[in-house]
Parts: sequence; C-alpha cells; structure tokens
Amino acid sequence: MPKPTPPRIFDLAQIVQTQWQSLTQAAHDHHHAWHTPTLANVGEGIAQVRTVVLRSADPTTRILTCHADSRSPKITQLAQDPCFSWHFYDRDAKVQLRAYGRAWIHQDDALTHQRWRDGAWRSAQCYRTPFAPGAPCTETDLDIDEAVDPATGEEHFVVLACKINMLDWLYLHVEGHRRAQFSWQDAHWQGQWIAP
Ligand SMILES: Cc1cc2nc3c(=O)[nH]c(=O)nc-3n(C[C@H](O)[C@H](O)[C@H](O)COP(=O)(O)O)c2cc1C
Repeated sequence: MPKPTPPRIFDLAQIVQTQWQSLTQAAHDHHHAWHTPTLANVGEGIAQVRTVVLRSADPTTRILTCHADSRSPKITQLAQDPCFSWHFYDRDAKVQLRAYGRAWIHQDDALTHQRWRDGAWRSAQCYRTPFAPGAPCTETDLDIDEAVDPATGEEHFVVLACKINMLDWLYLHVEGHRRAQFSWQDAHWQGQWIAP
C-alpha cells in the first residue's frame, strides 16, 4: 500500500505557526527529531557548531533556550558576538528549519535556579568538574568522584537564551521543494517564498 502523502501547507502564516508548535513540542519530547539541534556561532574567525538539547521554545517571546557550562567556549564567544543560529532537521517530516537570533545568558538567577531544581542538577557531574569544557585533561581526570558534594556544580550552570528574529523553512517534496523565510518586523512574522 503506498504511503499517504502528508498534507501540504501553502499558507505562510500557518507555516510559521506550525514551526513554532513543532519547536515547543521538540523541547518537551526527547524523541522528537528537533530535540537535539545544532547550535552555531562565529568564534575565533570560524563557524563553531555543536549539538545541544533544546530546553524550551516560546512562540510568544520567540526565545529558544539550551543549557551550558559558563566556562565553555561558546559562552565566552557570546560576549564578543551574540549572533547565534539553530539548525533543526526532521527526516520523517522532510523539514529543515534554521533559526537566527541574538543570545544572552542567565546565571545565578530565578530561571537558572528553577531549571536546576527541575532536573539540570542531574548533569551536576559535568558542571562541577574543575576542568572547563575544552581544557586539556588526562583520560581518567573526569572519572566520577563520589567524594564531591553532589550539590555543587550550579555555579557553572547557565541557560543560553536566544531571541529569534529570522526563520528559514525548507520542505522537501517530490512534487517540488518549498522554502520560505520569515523575519520579525512590526511585531509580526513577515513571510516570503524563496527558491529552495
Ligand atoms: C546529544 C548531545 C547533546 C548535547 N547537549 C548539550 C547541551 O545541551 N549544552 C551544551 O553546552 N553542550 C551539549 N553537548 C555538547 C556540545 O555538543 C559540545 O561538545 C560542548 O558544549 C562544547 O561546545 P563548545 O566548545 O562549542 O562550547 C551535547 C552533545 C551531544 C552529543
């Protein structure tokens, strides 16, 4: 039996709304293809890319967040240039979404304390190591040290927040790919079809 063709969407306003719905869902669903996007920035003169876990997506504020170690290179680079990009790809939905915005960090504030209590503490082992991400170490330096106070680590925990002002949506379809860009202007998403 042939696989049913997924419904096609042609309305730009509906597309942008659906993409934010997917982002919101992806932040809460570990199995969603968009749960682990690639986060990119420019640092030390080159494109820096890494996988992160999408922790929240809010269509109203247009803010995406992930968690990070305050000592990691991306956080020090953020102070030089806050422009960050997110790349999402859903193989089954045949959709690539790129989101562009400006980032900042939350550290030792109400949001980070809440996120820590809500589960970020489970990664405390990563945050409490004396080694900053990317610092040279030996193979055994990062073995779990049971003697370390499990309550420590929060001091290095940050929430990276990014306010999105542009989206680039690409939908692959046998009858013709579709691509649209959306920019936030005058308190609205302004959509424009562009060539894939
Ligand atoms: C599946 C997966 C999820 C990850 N999630 C995060 C994350 O949420 N935050 C983070 O800072 N690093 C995360 N990492 C590690 C980063 O990809 C990266 O190695 C690390 O943050 C150092 O990046 P930087 O040197 O660019 O700062 C994850 C890696 C993988 C493979």
